[in-house]
Amino acid sequence: MLSRNRAAAARSMPGEGQRSSGRAAQRLLVALLGAAVGAAVAQADEPILPIPPAPALDARKLALGQALFHDKRLSNDNTLSCASCHDLSRGGVDGRSSSIGIGGAKGPINAPTVFNSSLNFRQFWDGRAASLEEQAAGPVHNPLEMGSNWAEVLGKLSRDAPLVEQFKAAYPDGLQSRNIQDAIATFERSLTTPNARIDRYLRGDKSALSPDELRGYQLFKAFGCVACHQGVNVGGNMFQTFGVMGDYFTRRGSVTAADLGRYNVTRNDADRYAFKVPSLRNVAVTAPYFHDGSARTLNEAVDVMFKYQLGRSAAAQDKELIVKFLHTLTGEYQGRSLQQADPLVARRP
Ligand code: HEC
Ligand code: HEC
Repeated sequence: MLSRNRAAAARSMPGEGQRSSGRAAQRLLVALLGAAVGAAVAQADEPILPIPPAPALDARKLALGQALFHDKRLSNDNTLSCASCHDLSRGGVDGRSSSIGIGGAKGPINAPTVFNSSLNFRQFWDGRAASLEEQAAGPVHNPLEMGSNWAEVLGKLSRDAPLVEQFKAAYPDGLQSRNIQDAIATFERSLTTPNARIDRYLRGDKSALSPDELRGYQLFKAFGCVACHQGVNVGGNMFQTFGVMGDYFTRRGSVTAADLGRYNVTRNDADRYAFKVPSLRNVAVTAPYFHDGSARTLNEAVDVMFKYQLGRSAAAQDKELIVKFLHTLTGEYQGRSLQQADPLVARRP
């Protein structure tokens, strides 16, 4: 994808002063793409693609993965499952600005949704996991999340005879940590949310969007949001600096290690404050927003994007239309439209 390559080029500029030259290149990128995309609005090829049908998955692995995703034995004190922080009945998130792990440990970062995570090019805000399989080991070992390890988990699960049998049926080598990871990843690949109204529109049902929503989509393209939020996941396919056009972090204050983003993985100065551009699918039901959970509403998030990613302001009415468009990105899981996470209800059990 053109913009992805350009973004990658902007990201990998070497040398001293990379941060400012990297930023200058990114600014140019946004301006160029914004202009190009603006000109392309009338054309048929869309920057957003509909979610394809869910892939065919091994039913035994899928069932195991679904059970493991909800299994609290994956945490040290048997209090937390993956679903505790990724509640599938609530948009796949916990509704908190940052997650609460075992023993009430407060994590450093906002939990993204697990819905459609299989469509992201890498996992985590800083992209440190290349696959869902690799990702699944992260929370199990994270002392601020499940605080456990495979030896401990395997010890507990191996005393569950029916589960051990299920593993033997699904995998030649039975209960193993890599098979736990594989089963969870298989289940996660089933967590796509097709049939959002934008997808029906893109597939040719022109009545799927109201005139306001369609106008919002046109503005989303014309202002250049699609330079970063694009493709099948409306994001999730590149890294970008948070604050291309202004220093978001100085403004917000108290910079944390998690704010360094991709830099924590590469130790490359140009990657400071760079994050995987989040998918905007189902964004209407996954508040609060940003890696720091600092925006409580979509209006706030869109304001921040205009200011720090596009370096401009927009008329209140245009922002409202974009927010209306963002609501058309809500898809369906098991035939039902995803629901908003309610922080009061989505308490960990
Ligand atoms: C204590 C809360 C908590 C638990 C328990 C938890 N997660 Fe997460 N999850 C998070 C947070 C917070 C992040 C973001 C971390 C980061 O990016 O550094 C995350 C990120 C992810 C991502 C990456 C999504 C993306 O778009 O990058 C996936 C996939 C995921 N979790 C799946 C799981 C699975 C599978 C389990 C169980 C094995 C699990 N999580 C357990 C809080 C949690
Ligand atoms: C230069 C790239 C870029 C552009 C242009 C851009 N964004 Fe973003 N967007 C990002 C990044 C990076 C993040 C994640 C920031 C963070 O949390 O660290 C983000 C986050 C968001 C979020 C929060 C998502 C979540 O789940 O937390 C929303 C909503 C959003 N953008 C909407 C927009 C809209 C609307 C526009 C156009 C007005 C836009 N963005 C333009 C890169 C961009």
